[in-house]
Amino acid sequence: MVAVLDNKHIDAIMASLMDGIITFDGKGHIIMANKAAENLFLVREGGLEGKTMLEIGDDDIFAMIEEVLMRGNEVFAETVIQPRTQIYRVHVMPIKNDAREIEGAVAVFRDVTDARNFDQMRSEFVGNVSHELRTPLTSIKGFVETLLDGAMENSAICRRFLSIIDAETERLSRLIEDLLSLSSIESKERIINPKPVCLIRSIRSVMNILGPQISEKSLHVEFICDAQLSLILADEDLLNQVLINLLDNAIKYTPRQGKIIIRSRQRDSRVITTFTDTGMGIPHESLPRVFERFYRVDKARSRHQGGTGLGLAIVKHIVESHGGEVFVESEVGRGSTFGVSFLVV
Ligand SMILES: Nc1ncnc2c1ncn2[C@@H]1O[C@H](COP(=O)(O)OP(=O)(O)OP(=O)(O)O)[C@@H](O)[C@H]1O
Ligand SMILES: [Mg+2]
Repeated sequence: MVAVLDNKHIDAIMASLMDGIITFDGKGHIIMANKAAENLFLVREGGLEGKTMLEIGDDDIFAMIEEVLMRGNEVFAETVIQPRTQIYRVHVMPIKNDAREIEGAVAVFRDVTDARNFDQMRSEFVGNVSHELRTPLTSIKGFVETLLDGAMENSAICRRFLSIIDAETERLSRLIEDLLSLSSIESKERIINPKPVCLIRSIRSVMNILGPQISEKSLHVEFICDAQLSLILADEDLLNQVLINLLDNAIKYTPRQGKIIIRSRQRDSRVITTFTDTGMGIPHESLPRVFERFYRVDKARSRHQGGTGLGLAIVKHIVESHGGEVFVESEVGRGSTFGVSFLVV
């Protein structure tokens, strides 16, 4: 037996739709609006019926309905419906009778804000990547051309230029490695393999790895931790990446003979580790942005030191994918504290 949809069913379907739907008669008066449409225009139940879009205060949509009722074609537009900030894609179609005369119109409102924000983020990201790749490439090309133009004959100059080219190619490959590592964590393609890890051992090993940079700048690095520290649940390789990035920053952005203190302490089910340095610090207005990809407080200086501006974005992603949190406090000229938390076993 074929069941017939009655008004009750149709009302239930309309009420459950995420898209706003409004139907109009041939004069542009609203016959019916679903719940999503009422929410969109901030009116109570039944508050739209009988009105025109002009009375509701939306001239643009009024003009779209007029056009459809007059010409019988479909129209699309993307619009921001005041006082909201969301972007809606509006699609208006004519309703025709059997004689193909226009009897009314139906408008569908779909919230496309997320998609538009995503498009914008993607194009900004591509712009950033291209810029980051172009800078070292331009420099490499410049030095190669100068070498070919004759500078090659002078062995001292040749050696100097080649070492610049070497450093720039190093930066390019680091950039690509960082991008790949970020995208694999983001796309969840890199399967996180959390196991009980001794954080103290990981921190000591990272201090060893960065030992040469620490002694080169005559920095004093101290590690203080609770006597009883539980094991944490983490993917050891990823944890090491977090610790290396944070210690590397503390080293890079602290002047010679400065001090770096690493502290680990347990708070309930978390172990919080902080890296405090006596470095240059970060201006207040930059603090919310340092975990963004490619964000650098001082682009020239960071790039000079081989930075890609991806380190902290990677840290944030890894820590959050482990269920932890990141934070930062800083004062210009005094130093910075970066912190991460991990769950205990
Ligand atoms: N300990 C710190 N002290 C002062 N500024 C810092 C510190 N850590 C990070 N920053 C600032 O935050 C920016 C972003 O750091 P991030 O680690 O993401 O990138 P980077 O160090 O420039 O490059 P990468 O880590 O990829 O080599 C840095 O360029 C720097 O301006
Ligand atoms: Mg860094």
